[in-house]
Amino acid sequence: MSTETEILRRRTFAIISHPDAGKTTLTEKLLLFGGAIHIAGAVKSNKIRKTATSDWMAIEKQRGISVATSVMGFEYKGFKINILDTPGHQDFAEDTYRTLTAVDSVIIVVDAARGVETQTRRLMEVCRMRKTPVIIFVNKMDRESIDPFDLLDELEKELQIAVRPLSFPVNMGAKFKGVYNIFEKKLNLFTPDKQRITEKIEFDDINSPDLEKYVDEDDAHKLRKDLELIESVYPEFDSSTYLNGDLAPVFFGSALNNFGVNELLDCFVEIAPSPQCIAAQEREVSPYEDSFAGFVFKIHANMDPNHRSCIAFVKICAGKFERNVNYKHIRLNRMLKFSAPTAFMAQKKETVDEAFVGDIIGLPDNGNTFKIGDTLTAGEILHFKGLPSFSPEMFKYIQNADPMKTKQLEKGIAQLTDEGVAQLFVSQYNNRKIIGAVGQLQFEVIQYRLEHEYGAQCRWEPVSLYKACWISGNETAEMENFKRRKAQYMAKDKLGRDVFLADSAYVLQTAQNDFKNIKFHFNSEF
Ligand code: G4P
Repeated sequence: MSTETEILRRRTFAIISHPDAGKTTLTEKLLLFGGAIHIAGAVKSNKIRKTATSDWMAIEKQRGISVATSVMGFEYKGFKINILDTPGHQDFAEDTYRTLTAVDSVIIVVDAARGVETQTRRLMEVCRMRKTPVIIFVNKMDRESIDPFDLLDELEKELQIAVRPLSFPVNMGAKFKGVYNIFEKKLNLFTPDKQRITEKIEFDDINSPDLEKYVDEDDAHKLRKDLELIESVYPEFDSSTYLNGDLAPVFFGSALNNFGVNELLDCFVEIAPSPQCIAAQEREVSPYEDSFAGFVFKIHANMDPNHRSCIAFVKICAGKFERNVNYKHIRLNRMLKFSAPTAFMAQKKETVDEAFVGDIIGLPDNGNTFKIGDTLTAGEILHFKGLPSFSPEMFKYIQNADPMKTKQLEKGIAQLTDEGVAQLFVSQYNNRKIIGAVGQLQFEVIQYRLEHEYGAQCRWEPVSLYKACWISGNETAEMENFKRRKAQYMAKDKLGRDVFLADSAYVLQTAQNDFKNIKFHFNSEF
């Protein structure tokens, strides 16, 4: 197969949702359809979240599983599909954000009864920012749900994206009859069965009286009316608008019952993008270039305290990656070769000789070779953009609790924040270190790992902060004036950039009003 064909047949994506909407169930069903697993119940990584937030050790035990399920590759109808797992635990959201930088598209799962929930809204912001194409799967139609049209309105409003149903439910809850596939013009009748794949009935003309043979008169009448309304209200599905990230096709179904998943997958492979061009600081990099280029988007630590080994996950952006070939690590300015790169198929990882654009490879790292955002190339100096830090939601001062282990603590903080466990800010006012995280669990992870991997002890002290904003402005004098006037709120991030740490919405608002020429950014890439 030519390299071009290999690239064109790849679909690298993530499934995102608010916890409990059905991401794990849907992932598992996609793997079943792809023949990658044979029994339901095999994907359990997301069950991590079911443990109590404070039970870090219990989460710990499951990490071995989650490495293998970080990327799940399988073949389907000639396509090579790579699903990138996003941690299901609410507290791991930062890791999820970064995973989104390595995908070409996204499937959002929404619980039909609960509608759009917080985490979905936040993850969608990242998709919008990156213009990632999204498909929405409305799950749990076998339960009493919000009216589908109201739900479509809610999706449009809350996720700020135009929607276009490509399938539509016939009734819902106990009366759920099935889904009409608008894309294929087929009626798929629902039989509650977790294992069986249902048959589809083709309808060239939905007005044909044949419809009444399959669903009762009321449902048939309503379906025709609903489809009429859809055609008059929603724009035609246009794949270029979808590919630009401006339109989200919507599917309805029930992942648990294996329903609507096949339609989703068949349409997904047709319309979802193969790997696209990626912007580096120096130039745009095309997937069809001959020379290899890729970047690290995730580092998975092995928690064995005896040797600090990690796996760096590299997204291949151009060329072909080959085992035992020298590649340039741009930040270290060193040539490195890798004897045991791993690829991920189904739930197994195995050593591979080559991997193509769109694939993810795991590179074992025993010596802190990699940081999030590092670039590897065949030789050219490239720095990929698009791995922003987002304003954390929670902040704490980190304090040394064992003065004999200061060096170990410093090293631990530096390495763990490089790995992306949380963000580090240094206050320019009192020089103290502040850790910013998305959830409480990240603080526990840091404390545990500092102790077990570095032999250092830390203590958390409260600091009341509302948001971290990266600031920019064209006039040096004004920037300097701002930094002087707001000295008590100023900090530097890991890369030495200026960050304004506002302690309340009011302080932020006042600063924005007083300094009109200064821009306040809620992520580090502006
Ligand atoms: P998540 O990864 O997004 O957090 O969600 P997950 O798939 O774990 O699903 C959350 C719960 O919703 C699970 O129930 C799952 O069985 C159920 N579920 C998923 N899809 C459907 C569906 O289409 N219909 C209905 N009725 N339920 C669905 P649980 O009791 O929390 O877990 P389990 O004991 O079933 O594993």
